[in-house]
Amino acid sequence: MSQQLPDRSLFPKHIGVIMDGNGRWANERNLSRTQGHKVGAKVFEDITRYCAKIGIDYITFYAFSTENWKRPLKEVNFLMSLFDNELTRAFKLKAQNEKDGICMNFIGDIESLPKTLQILINKTRTEKKETTKTVSTIAINYGSQQEILNATKKICEEYKNEKISLDKLDVSNFNNYLYTNEMPPVDLMIRTGGEKRLSNYLLWQSAYSELYFTDVYWPDFDTDELDKAIIEFSNRNRRFGDVKEDKFES
Ligand code: IPE
Ligand code: IPE
Ligand code: MG
Repeated sequence: MSQQLPDRSLFPKHIGVIMDGNGRWANERNLSRTQGHKVGAKVFEDITRYCAKIGIDYITFYAFSTENWKRPLKEVNFLMSLFDNELTRAFKLKAQNEKDGICMNFIGDIESLPKTLQILINKTRTEKKETTKTVSTIAINYGSQQEILNATKKICEEYKNEKISLDKLDVSNFNNYLYTNEMPPVDLMIRTGGEKRLSNYLLWQSAYSELYFTDVYWPDFDTDELDKAIIEFSNRNRRFGDVKEDKFES
């Protein structure tokens, strides 16, 4: 049953999504984990379309972490070929997606991915335009600690070459060195599948995120579930360290 969404001014501008629970969803149905990943890929597409429809400016999906290489080779290979298939599909839909206001973006250590996947990523990526309704980003081979470390290394390099002075470095321009440099911070972080952790995802960008954990496995997540998260977000009291009371008694 769908619920009434709040006014758009109360929407999160940027949603982060940790798409977890594909394997457990499949296990509970006596299916192979790969089946869970396949259904999960379809959900990603539905949620992206819905975000463009309702007007979520940015949504960033965690598809494969730098730690996921530890999984059995068979599963890793399956995931890489699933990404190949999904991106081939997304490439075919590129013109339609652009028409629908969907901008496709990718973050992570793309250069360390299989060459075929890198080519597909570069073909599928689109520029943000005036007509863009949602920027849908896939984080693939992404690790937040590595991202922050790489940013620090770039800064050190620029400092060594006298391109940056340290007193000019602050929280807002540190952001320029991250993959997400053109995005606002994450307002709402959703994790499906019941675990309550961030698993090395957007650690810098989620400094003041509202965290939303649901037991629903990713293959069962749908637009109604997203509505629930947005409604809960709109009812949260975000203070950013400030206080809201008018009176202060000493
Ligand atoms: C998330 O689902 C998808 C990826 C990490 C690629 P999982 O594969 O982690 O599913 P569970 O957590 O084992 O159920
Ligand atoms: C996080 O899920 C990574 C993705 C959703 C891509 P994991 O299933 O890998 O996380 P952990 O191992 O439970 O922390
Ligand atoms: Mg998992």
